[in-house]
Amino acid sequence: MKKLLLVTVYLVGTGLQLFPAETVRSAIPETRQRLLMDNSWKFIQSDIKEAERQNFDDSKWRTLNLPHDWSIEGEFKEDAITKGPGGYLPTGIGWYRKHFNIASIGTGQQFWIEFDGVYMNSDVWINGQHLGKHPYGYTSFYYDLTPYIKKGENILAVRVDNSVQPNSRWYSGSGIYRHVWLNIAGPVHVAQWGTYITTLIADSISATVSVRTSVENKSFISKTVILRSVIKNDTGKEIATIETPFSLESAAKTDIEQSIKVAFPSLWLIDKPSLYTLHSFILEGTRVIDHINSTFGIHKIEYDKDNGFLLNGKHVKMNGVCLHHDAGCLGAAVPEQAWVRRLQMLKEMGCNAIRTSHNPPAPEFLDLCDKLGFLVMDEIFDEWVEKKGQVGFGYHIYFEEWWKSDVLSMIYRDRNHPSVVIWSAGNEVPDQVAEKGSEVMRKLVETFHKEDPTRPVTQANDRIAAGDGPAKLPFLELQDIVGYNYVDRWFKRRELYYSIDRHDHPDWKMIGTENGSVGGIRGNYSITGSDRTDLRPGRSRDYRTSMINAEQLWKFTSVNDYVIGDFMWTGIDYLGEANWPNKNSSSGVIDLCGFPKDGYYFYQSQWTKKPMVHIFPHWNWTGYEGKVISVIAYSNCDTVELFLNGKSFGAKSYVFPQQGHAKSWNTYASPYIAPTTSDLHLTWDVPYEPGTLKAVGKKNGKMVTEEVHTTSSPAAIRLSADRKDINADAHDIVNVKVEIIDENGLVVPGADNLIEFKVEGEGVLIGTDNGNPPDKRQMKSKQRNAFNGLALAVIQSTEKGGNICITAISPNLKDAVLQIVSQKSGK
Ligand code: GAL
Repeated sequence: MKKLLLVTVYLVGTGLQLFPAETVRSAIPETRQRLLMDNSWKFIQSDIKEAERQNFDDSKWRTLNLPHDWSIEGEFKEDAITKGPGGYLPTGIGWYRKHFNIASIGTGQQFWIEFDGVYMNSDVWINGQHLGKHPYGYTSFYYDLTPYIKKGENILAVRVDNSVQPNSRWYSGSGIYRHVWLNIAGPVHVAQWGTYITTLIADSISATVSVRTSVENKSFISKTVILRSVIKNDTGKEIATIETPFSLESAAKTDIEQSIKVAFPSLWLIDKPSLYTLHSFILEGTRVIDHINSTFGIHKIEYDKDNGFLLNGKHVKMNGVCLHHDAGCLGAAVPEQAWVRRLQMLKEMGCNAIRTSHNPPAPEFLDLCDKLGFLVMDEIFDEWVEKKGQVGFGYHIYFEEWWKSDVLSMIYRDRNHPSVVIWSAGNEVPDQVAEKGSEVMRKLVETFHKEDPTRPVTQANDRIAAGDGPAKLPFLELQDIVGYNYVDRWFKRRELYYSIDRHDHPDWKMIGTENGSVGGIRGNYSITGSDRTDLRPGRSRDYRTSMINAEQLWKFTSVNDYVIGDFMWTGIDYLGEANWPNKNSSSGVIDLCGFPKDGYYFYQSQWTKKPMVHIFPHWNWTGYEGKVISVIAYSNCDTVELFLNGKSFGAKSYVFPQQGHAKSWNTYASPYIAPTTSDLHLTWDVPYEPGTLKAVGKKNGKMVTEEVHTTSSPAAIRLSADRKDINADAHDIVNVKVEIIDENGLVVPGADNLIEFKVEGEGVLIGTDNGNPPDKRQMKSKQRNAFNGLALAVIQSTEKGGNICITAISPNLKDAVLQIVSQKSGK
């Protein structure tokens, strides 16, 4: 007879079932459940004695939903112990408790709790029973609850200790900042992270999908079962099935290997990332006793010492960015939708690759990369055995004891993602020059190779040619692909880049794991050269020269196929790694709010083909009438002509990339265009007069324009949202862009008016920001100054559907109101 399994998770105290998603009914006995355990946790930002006890009174603690980062709720203080690396925010110790109810427990039923990420040093208890400790804040982990869970009320308690500081070179956040899941399965089930899917043989005619499934038998008797693996395509159509019967002793675990042919597969491509789902069923007779789904893609990845990276046999240059894990005013607790917006922007920039510097990301980040078509370098550590100078309490403290389980956590969790195409074992680890560094490198590489022979391993080396102690050769030679951080840093490499090593080590595969970008502060321009404070080459913040180093490197990278690609530092600004009065790094081409800087368009001009042109600076230069101002354009057009108030300053064009003769001498594949520069930007000297600058780009007969106007003073606020309706699930968000405009609707450069936000209806303001590094108003504040004309407000839905009304007011400006609809998605 079929038994009804009912699991109810509710908030004790109110007795309310707040989140119907957590009430799960299954007509199939013992079939797998995966419950999101994010809602209604009790929290206190303090170290409390005996808070792990089951009967501890937490009624006065705050109630909140995960993901949660308490650091981002705090004040920026110059004397914070996190200092600049942690963005001057508080850390400390916090406790979380979750009450949940189990309505019934089936015979032999298994329960385990899975944490996607807790920063850091977490201890977890269930019903007063200690389950374990997990130091590293970036890897996922889980604990078996089966021996301790009971019918009725259960209590999970989590102590998070981020008090020993500084322990990270960038902002980490504090708390249970990623999702938590309760897994429930029958005694015979697919183990956690128990499928491993590879597609070493794949082309458009046929693919062989190899599946390894780990199955465990937690019952007291041996079992004879069938593993049925079904592959479905992205429309849900079943395209292949295989069954393997096997027997499993009591308390045993086994790996079942299956090989499934897929005819005419839809390959995973960057522009069309087709996904498949593997449904793994365990059957006892005809009864399904376990079922899980794993998403994967069919593709072939190859790395060639001469031709770089090949995806399905085709050369793809990695146009990459490095990203840290925070999302500005939301801290480390990042709703998926925040990444959707950011990744879409990167996609539009032409970025096709992301390095998750310097730690594994949230699982949903990789799901998005799978769906949107990004190649990912999944990185595990910033420190191994040797300590870095900047932080006293980094991972070197934990390495010896924990490296293996942290590396395995990343590999097992992430190895089915088609987006993950390369592993990085570390970033700039000082072990690269240490006596025993190669030994450590060797054991890391061996672990990666054993657990995933399909992807290469790199390390982001910054000392390959260091004058004061270069990376050791055996250390580099252990890497499948040698990773170069700041390839142009040392001596003649400033101009020769990878070519010296290419000559000396012709068999090396090489990748730019990290190099400088065109960062800077959005909308800040100096025409006096006063921003040239940092004389290091490539560090210019002057808008007229800040792109020069990135241009030189990109010219080399783009024409040398053997260089697999480049990951510039960074795609997006991130909290921390700052010096007071700044709280964040400004090395991104997108600011902390997700607004593009001019540098964004530099990469777009190099990485995309759809005609675009972008000109800067702004055109509000009262007092500079008649003085020459450099106007810069980034464009992928054949020519760009600049006009001021209708008067042409001439058409300009690039010489790079040069056209060689085609077919015969003095014939060309495309029309010859007289170049005006060997740079990758165009520039005009324009005597200032107020009015309109207009750039007209032409490409293959297509025209594209951009205008920049002199504005008058701020008159009103304009609000716009990235989405008009959102999901009423207390997680989804809408990003509201605030523009300070003049009476003609033009955004006023330099406008810094103070805005106050009011959110009414079924939404909550969860963060505001303006992208200005020294702005240290709290990130949860409902007031925010605009910065160079813009600001951001992030609003989250509640679990109730309805309208959300956002009002922005500011003295002397016309208010703005925006309506958003929040409704249940019905998912
Ligand atoms: C690199 C390092 C990054 C970041 C960057 C700042 O050397 O790998 O984490 O610190 O410098 O420029």
